[in-house]
Formats: sequence, structure tokens, C-alpha cells
Amino acid sequence: MDELLSKENLDYRDRARQVAEKYVKPVAAELDRTGEYPWEVIKALQETRLMGMWVPKDYGGGGSGLLNLCIVVEEISRACGAIGCAYVVNALGSLPIVLGGTEAQKQKYLPDIAAGRKLIAFCLSEKNAGSDAGSLKTRAERDGDNYVISGDKKWTTNGAAASLYTVFATTNPERGTRGVTGFIVERETQGFELGKREDLMGIRCVPVNETHLRNVRVPAANLLGGAEGRGFKHAMMTLDVARPFVAAQGLGIAQGALDLALEYTKQRQQFGQSIASFQGIQFMLADMATQVEAARYLVYAAARAVDAGVKDVSKISAMSKVFATDTAMRVTTDAVQLFGGYGYCRDYPIEKFMRDAKITQIYEGTNQIQRMVIGRSLIRESAS
Ligand code: CAA
Repeated sequence: MDELLSKENLDYRDRARQVAEKYVKPVAAELDRTGEYPWEVIKALQETRLMGMWVPKDYGGGGSGLLNLCIVVEEISRACGAIGCAYVVNALGSLPIVLGGTEAQKQKYLPDIAAGRKLIAFCLSEKNAGSDAGSLKTRAERDGDNYVISGDKKWTTNGAAASLYTVFATTNPERGTRGVTGFIVERETQGFELGKREDLMGIRCVPVNETHLRNVRVPAANLLGGAEGRGFKHAMMTLDVARPFVAAQGLGIAQGALDLALEYTKQRQQFGQSIASFQGIQFMLADMATQVEAARYLVYAAARAVDAGVKDVSKISAMSKVFATDTAMRVTTDAVQLFGGYGYCRDYPIEKFMRDAKITQIYEGTNQIQRMVIGRSLIRESAS
């Protein structure tokens, strides 16, 4: 695969690998235990200019494109899927501004995000609006030069770490998805409250919070894109670009688990020989490696399609997410199996990969929703 990557791609990979080796690997198990946020890693990513690499150069970012970002996420997640998530969810939070914000919004908010001075989270989901994102109930009403937002958001990833939030609310409930509007909300705004932190199976160092908006008053200048009713499209366009980097997170987790399984099976002696010398074990490793490589091709293809400006990337983006994250779950489960009883113990690093993999099949659209997106695209394409 390396021969298909450019010098720039390989340079991003080297930088990310150095951060992963020096800063991520040493803290992954400890932060999984304590639930503390990886601030030191975020600082290292800032110093290596990997924070905000997705932000256009005009606003102080790296202007790197999605393929480079996927490569970086893959490398970080290979060392720790949770830290990969803590990092890249900033891209999810800021993409609505990059893709749909006004010039003034870009100039005001993107430079701080690009420099890593401010982290940003994405507030779309609610208790009763998960897969059916368009049924959200958070309400925003115009009041003079302001909007007043009220409602409760769920699953705000990086919630307690962020200081900016892109919040989706309805400005016109009768219009369904066409009434949804995005807003940029600053953490200090009166009435914005962080709620319960979820006690999660994996990605345990990432604070995933409920967020509450109690008559939060934001200036009309913070209306995303400067017009009401564009929010659902902004959210969907964001997810089309974001899903390949969740796929890259799954890919990195799968590769990391495969690395550990290969090392362990070469060392582990049973019946007088290393278990890697048994054909049954080699077949398992071969299947894992083949799936990981196939996932890599699909993730990079989706990222390249986005970078090339392909008009409709929903299908390839959803395909990359389904395939790479299902691969992550299969490969990490097999890796635990290869470690035997030790794989089931927290003394060994492998069970964490399986726990961190699971969320990638669920967030940024469950893999059932991805299949729905793919199915709808197939039917549309066959009709035209
Ligand atoms: N790009 C641009 N516009 C799009 C679009 C896209 N990819 N997909 C849909 N739209 C537009 C449609 O064209 C339509 O526009 P018009 O009204 O002008 O016709 C409008 O949006 C509504 O489209 P649908 O009728 O297809 O909408 P739907 O209600 O059937 O929902 C869905 C479609 C794909 C199921 C969508 O709701 C969806 O993606 N759900 C999953 C939500 C999700 O991924 N949530 C994750 C949140 S982030 C997270 O996980 C937490 C985290 O922080 C990591």
C-alpha cells in the first residue's frame, strides 16, 4: 500500500506515528483506567501541527485533505482508539463551520480550532433523536438580534473537554428536516450546561456528556451559514465527510489488534512450539490481515473521493464506515481469542481494543443506518 501513498501522505503518517509511539502508547492503559482526558497528547498534536490539519490554510489550519487526516487517525487509533476519537471528534465539530459557515464565522472560530486552542464538539443527537436525527426537538427562536435555544442533547462526544459546540435545533418544527438550523455556541454562554457523563464500555478517556440548553441566547451572527433551515443538510454533509475518519479509527484499532496478536502468537508456546506455527492460527491471522488491508483500500478510496470533490460521496463514505468498523469488531474479537484466557484480562492490552472498536459500529450513524444510506443510493442510481 505504501507505494500508492504520496510523499506528503507518508510524512503525515510519520509525524502521527511519532506522536503515537511517544505520547499515546505510554498513557493508553492508564487513561482507560482513570478516564482522564489525554491533554498531553492533544498538546503534542498541537506542537506537531496535526491539530486542525483539516482546517483550510486561510484560517490557520493545515488544509490537508481527508486522506491525510484518515492516515493520521489510523496511526493514533492503532495505539489507542479512544485517543483517536478524542482527537478527530474536533473535525466532526468544526466541519459544519468549514462546510457551511459564513466567512465571518470561519474567521472568528476556525483559527482557534486550527491551533488547538479550543476544542469543539458536535451536538446533533437527543434522547429520542438518534438514528432519526431529523426528529430532534431542541428549539431555537428568534428574539431581535438573538436566538434563544432550549433543549437537551445526548452523546456529546468530548463534551466536557470542548469550549465550542455546533448545536442543531429546529427553528420551524412544522418543516421537519427543513426546519433544522445549526448554531455555534460558546461554552461560557449563560444557560449552557454540561450534564451527566456517560459510563462507557470503551473510549473511556473521552468525556461523552449530556448537554443542556436552558434559554441559551446566542447572537444571530452565530446562526450557521447565516440562514435558517439549512442545518440538516449541513449535518448530513458533515457526516458524509466524517464517516471515513470513523472508518479510519476502526482501521487503526484493527491494525493495532493485529499487531499485538501477531507478536503474542509468535511468543506463546504450547505443545512445544509457538502457537503461530499452527496452521489454524495462521489462517486466523491471514483472514484478519486480509480484512484490514481491504478496509484500508476502501477507507482511502472514500477519502480520495472527498478530496477529489466528487459530488455525491454518501455511498462510498457509508461503505467505508460499515466495512472498516465491522472489520475492527471482527479482528479485535479474533485477537482476544488468540490471546486465550489472557485476552480476557485487563492485565493485557488486547481487550481494550475490542471495547474501543464497538463504538465505531454505533456512532456517527449506526452501521444499520449506513446500510440504509447505501441501499437508498443503489436504488437512486439504478433509477437514473
Ligand atoms: N447531503 C446533503 N443533503 C442530504 C444528505 C446528504 N448526505 N442526506 C440527506 N440530505 C437532505 C435530503 O436531500 C433532504 O433534503 P430536502 O428536504 O431538500 O429534500 C433532507 O436532507 C432530508 O433527507 P432524508 O429524507 O433522506 O432524511 P431522513 O430523515 O430520511 O434521514 C438519515 C436520513 C440518513 C437516516 C439521517 O437521519 C442520518 O444520517 N441518521 C443518522 C444520524 C447520525 O449519523 N448521527 C450521529 C451523530 S454524531 C455522533 O455519533 C456522536 C459523536 O459526537 C461522535
